[in-house]
Amino acid sequence: MGKYVIAGNWKMNKTPAEATALINELKPLVANASCDVIVGVPFVDLPAALEATAGTNIGVAAQNCHWKESGAYTGEISAAMLKAMGVGTVILGHSERRTYFGDTNETVAQRVRGALDAGLNVILCVGEYLEQREQGVTGEVVAMQTKIALGGVSEEELKRVIIAYEPVWAIGTGKTATAEQANEVCALIRATVAGLYNDAAAKALTIQYGGSMNAGNAADLLAQPDVDGGLIGGAALKANDFSIIVAAAK
Ligand code: PGA
Repeated sequence: MGKYVIAGNWKMNKTPAEATALINELKPLVANASCDVIVGVPFVDLPAALEATAGTNIGVAAQNCHWKESGAYTGEISAAMLKAMGVGTVILGHSERRTYFGDTNETVAQRVRGALDAGLNVILCVGEYLEQREQGVTGEVVAMQTKIALGGVSEEELKRVIIAYEPVWAIGTGKTATAEQANEVCALIRATVAGLYNDAAAKALTIQYGGSMNAGNAADLLAQPDVDGGLIGGAALKANDFSIIVAAAK
């Protein structure tokens, strides 16, 4: 429904030199992509990634940002800093940030606010833990994450937001949601957004699936009506695999 976007989430992998090499390998493989292509790289790789992707169809994302523009926040990076260096997008609310680094629905919402204020595009990650799926509260969890994160976001600003549905139990586990499970929750997110805004805004929204998406299962997942792309971890570190996923998004 929304525009297809395939984004790599490299997580804490690759030095700047390795980032340049991977992007250079990727460039010819995705040059004719019919979807948007983004690489989400570690902060220190951003200059190398921006240089290597200049003049190409590959966008560059950071993997987090602070909500304040500047200040006494040792070790943090602001959205304004990312924007100033030419970064287009930031991944926010990833489950690894929520699980290991204390991100909550409220701080994710603040980060979304800060990123949009700075002029960045946002990939907002939502998704349930295995135990929540087993308790039958996936819909409630994902709807709540979506509503809180979009709390202060206008309909105009929503055009700069992608939502990535990433069931936590599928991330890095090799255990993918079935295409039907992925579509069901992506459809639920779209319905939630329709409730917050309207049908047109919900239809235009890009909703990605993430969680062990790979060269073998991407086509099936991307063929689902409510799955408009992917947020790819492990498979994004291999140019060939990532390019196969990109080619499947059409
Ligand atoms: P994975 O990671 O593809 O390695 O499961 C996805 C993600 O965490 O965005």
